[in-house]
Amino acid sequence: MSAQTNFYNRFSFLYPLVDIFLKPQKKKFFDEINQLPYGNLLEIGVGNGSHFPFYKNHKITGIEISASMLNVAKKNSNSEIELFQMNGEELEFAENSFDYVVLSHVIAVADQPEKLLMQCRRLLKPGGKLLILNHFTPNNWLKYLDRLFNFFSGWFHLKSLFYMEHIKAINQFKLEKEIVLKPFSYFKILIFTKP
Ligand SMILES: C[S@@+](CC[C@H](N)C(=O)[O-])C[C@H]1O[C@@H](n2cnc3c(N)ncnc32)[C@H](O)[C@@H]1O
Repeated sequence: MSAQTNFYNRFSFLYPLVDIFLKPQKKKFFDEINQLPYGNLLEIGVGNGSHFPFYKNHKITGIEISASMLNVAKKNSNSEIELFQMNGEELEFAENSFDYVVLSHVIAVADQPEKLLMQCRRLLKPGGKLLILNHFTPNNWLKYLDRLFNFFSGWFHLKSLFYMEHIKAINQFKLEKEIVLKPFSYFKILIFTKP
């Protein structure tokens, strides 16, 4: 088991506190997701699944690497959501099987984001969409905080200093939409298409 999985297994009980902070961004994110036509949607790293009720339109499959997080997610789930314990970097689904892949606050915590994005590409149908919500180090005063916190952020199994363009696999997708979330432009919604 990786140190990161171990971390989420131990601290899953604290995640509802993080959730309070993330809720406003998620509302905007799910507004975007729910505007998309019906399709098969895979969410990688569902966490505790507290956001499952926000999904309105799609057939949802969720995966999560941490057994503790997944157990909570199962309680927040319903019979129409399929959940599996899997590593997003080594997924067992057939290629071209999803219309949408969602990464909500996962890309900067994954051990190997390059592998994660290559899996997203493999699983998406041509024309399928990759929807990412995350913090990205902005070009404002917050970059100094990110740099400072980067020395400690490993303790929390995330990368505080995080630039999407540093992950080469993202070049396999076409950026369709970028929504910069206020205040401070620290969080963004990025919507990519698999050509
Ligand atoms: C910061 S939480 C985000 C949870 C949820 N997506 C949200 O937006 O609240 C990151 C989650 O991703 C999971 N995770 C990290 N790396 C993963 C991987 N390679 N495969 C599957 N899940 C992963 C962690 O266990 C954790 O539950």
